[in-house]
Amino acid sequence: MIQKYPIKELTNAAKEMAKGNFSVRLKSKKKDEVGELITSFNHMATELEQIDNMREDFVSNVSHEIQSPLTSIRGFTKAIRDDVIPKKDQHEYLDIIYQETERLSRLSENLLRLASLDSEQHPYHPVTYRLDEQLRRTVVATEPQWKKKSLQIHLDLESIEVFADQDLLDQVWLNLMTNAIKYSSLNGEIEIYLSRDADEVKVTIKDTGKGIPKDAIPHLFERFYKVDKARSRTVQGNGLGLSIVKKILTIHGCLIDVVSEEGVGSTFMINISVKK
Ligand SMILES: Nc1ncnc2c1ncn2[C@@H]1O[C@H](COP(=O)(O)OP(=O)(O)OP(=O)(O)O)[C@@H](O)[C@H]1O
Ligand SMILES: [Mg+2]
Repeated sequence: MIQKYPIKELTNAAKEMAKGNFSVRLKSKKKDEVGELITSFNHMATELEQIDNMREDFVSNVSHEIQSPLTSIRGFTKAIRDDVIPKKDQHEYLDIIYQETERLSRLSENLLRLASLDSEQHPYHPVTYRLDEQLRRTVVATEPQWKKKSLQIHLDLESIEVFADQDLLDQVWLNLMTNAIKYSSLNGEIEIYLSRDADEVKVTIKDTGKGIPKDAIPHLFERFYKVDKARSRTVQGNGLGLSIVKKILTIHGCLIDVVSEEGVGSTFMINISVKK
């Protein structure tokens, strides 16, 4: 329908949108200024609708991630309280309850981290520092986790300085390394390379873990995305690690790429342009 009173229609549509109805669209075939205004209005409505959908998805994801640990905490505490679980097994169930509280606490930490990174005033303090030393520290910090799985770690790190926010990049290497460990089986291998090629510094983190299906790769960096949605309690995580990685790298103007094959392993490659 082409409006007889386009400005009036536009005013009504804007009022609808102010009430939260983002599905309103107006039609116009005219190429004049009003027609252009209507096209822009429709474009704005589409964008707002997308943001609104994302917000709804986000809330439902957060609720789900909160609900599932709470369900097991509630179930197991009740079972222990009602003496349904024999004394000798109680320790095991208390351990699960403890792990679930850790999961909730990690979720809130990661949500706060994302909120801070999303905000305009997120702290960003780049300094010049040795990236090879930082990567080595990440390997040391994660030693209990990779030792537990008897993973072999190979490092081939050139001594390289970068200009970046050290705390933020700490988080990137930690999240990538944690994934490499988490999705590896016993006795696997993790290789970390650092090299410089003209004005680009390359970091490669390669594992011999379970790999990622092809159709999952485009979604890896989305918030709450997990390949295995119904995974067991033993593989923990909320699917936020890689979205934080991506966000931090975007702030730095860096790129990340993934190559992976199921049953063979995954390689994450990060390019940092050297600006000094
Ligand atoms: N190195 C890897 N090998 C195999 N799969 C991986 C690897 N890294 C990530 N994935 C897959 O990508 C998904 C998203 O990773 P991401 O780090 O964002 O979340 P997570 O590890 O599930 O949870 P979190 O990092 O929030 O604790 C994981 O659930 C996993 O399925
Ligand atoms: Mg992770």
